[in-house]
Amino acid sequence: MKKKLFIKTYGCQMNVYDSGRMADVLAPLGYEPTDAPEGADMVILNTCHIREKAAEKVYSELGRIRQLQKDKASDGGRMVVAVAGCVAQAEGAEIMVRAPHVDMVFGPQTYHQLPEMVARAVRGTGGVVNTDFPVESKFDLLPEESAAPAGPAAFLSVQEGCDKFCTFCVVPYTRGAEFSRPVAQVIAEAKRLAAAGVREFTLLGQNVNAYHGEAQDGTVWGLGRLIRGLAELEGVERIRYTTSHPRDMDDDLIAAHGEVPQLMPFVHLPVQSGSDRILAAMNRKHTADDYRRIVERMRAARPDLALSSDFIVGFPGESDQDFADTLRLVTDIGFAQAYSFKYSARPGTPAAGMDGRQVPEAVKDERLQALQQLLNAQQVGFNESSVGQVQDVLLDRVGKKAGQLLGRGPYMQSVHLIAPERLLGSVAPVRITAAFANSLTGEVVTLDDHAADAAAGTEEVRV
Ligand code: 5AD
Ligand code: SF4
Repeated sequence: MKKKLFIKTYGCQMNVYDSGRMADVLAPLGYEPTDAPEGADMVILNTCHIREKAAEKVYSELGRIRQLQKDKASDGGRMVVAVAGCVAQAEGAEIMVRAPHVDMVFGPQTYHQLPEMVARAVRGTGGVVNTDFPVESKFDLLPEESAAPAGPAAFLSVQEGCDKFCTFCVVPYTRGAEFSRPVAQVIAEAKRLAAAGVREFTLLGQNVNAYHGEAQDGTVWGLGRLIRGLAELEGVERIRYTTSHPRDMDDDLIAAHGEVPQLMPFVHLPVQSGSDRILAAMNRKHTADDYRRIVERMRAARPDLALSSDFIVGFPGESDQDFADTLRLVTDIGFAQAYSFKYSARPGTPAAGMDGRQVPEAVKDERLQALQQLLNAQQVGFNESSVGQVQDVLLDRVGKKAGQLLGRGPYMQSVHLIAPERLLGSVAPVRITAAFANSLTGEVVTLDDHAADAAAGTEEVRV
């Protein structure tokens, strides 16, 4: 009989990808995904450690699951409860101590060992804790991903881990050292996804542009080379990558933005701060002007390129002047979109030990508000500048209204339009008719419109 598997995913796209792969590993054991935890035979919390109080949130979720586990037991069943991901890696056996009803705790590098862990947990010989960084790569041992991707846009993990050690960040400790999947493995996965109807590929990695995968001829490919290789495959219409580090934005990757039409003109390039003093304290390994220069070169390669970024306000020791430098950088660059956070200490990271230099909460609140006001104004301005343009939109979802489809433009803006359902899964030219803070509306440009525009010389298509 089929067993029901519920996976709750927190955090980044990497976790979304990993959750899919866990489902693939468990499928041969008879587990089928379900979308509610009630009555499930296995519940996995795939956790994220980036946000504040991440571990506490996991413990309270485990409290709720404890009740569901009891309900299942009173029906004569058994619910296996597992904690995976970065909180599992960071907390390890502590989770079993605080939540003894948990059967398995395992880190992101061990998913290929799941069948064995499940066998041990189900045998009931005590809980399983596995936070190793095994010598073998999970990517070599995971089964091929399931043949049915959720839609025309898919994630493809190419790199994992990080050796940068920014002083605020837990990732190098939870995800481990940098690792790049071999080129052939990435290409093979892309081919399978393309054959199953995927049109847009988002290459994933904690530090994705540090990619240095080995090719079959023994040469090492950077991300730019990999993107060029993927662009040659049948069906690969769009390529994106995330998350990148300014230090790894090399010449070839920048050139690829000008040379590979499938590479989308939108890049998430976190800068964190505009102050050189703070960037040094964060161990970011670049200055604010380095960032400005990189963006300038990227825009020279691809003039319609737009950027998003991450910012941290209130890093230990951040002065009013440092914060003013951040606002100046934002004004200089102009972002289409951004995420900003108040600094919060992560146990075990160097910045958490910068005692006496912590910025008061009220100051952080004020700075966050000022920064977000500026970034929101830039986002609204960027969205408004899309009105009147014809953008290629990947129609990937059915909307709530009758006849409505939703999609993503080149800049990841969500576009809402009325369009025939047969267009679902395809890329269509859409004239943007209105802009809102977080979305756009538009209408499909028909062949007749194209002809009329071309005749009148008014066709506006972004190059
Ligand atoms: N405090 C606040 N924000 C953080 N981030 C990572 N660690 C912290 C922290 N300790 C933010 C960074 C990163 C994003 C994913 O989360 O901006 O780029
Ligand atoms: Fe964390 Fe810095 Fe690595 Fe990004 S580059 S994952 S912020 S250590």
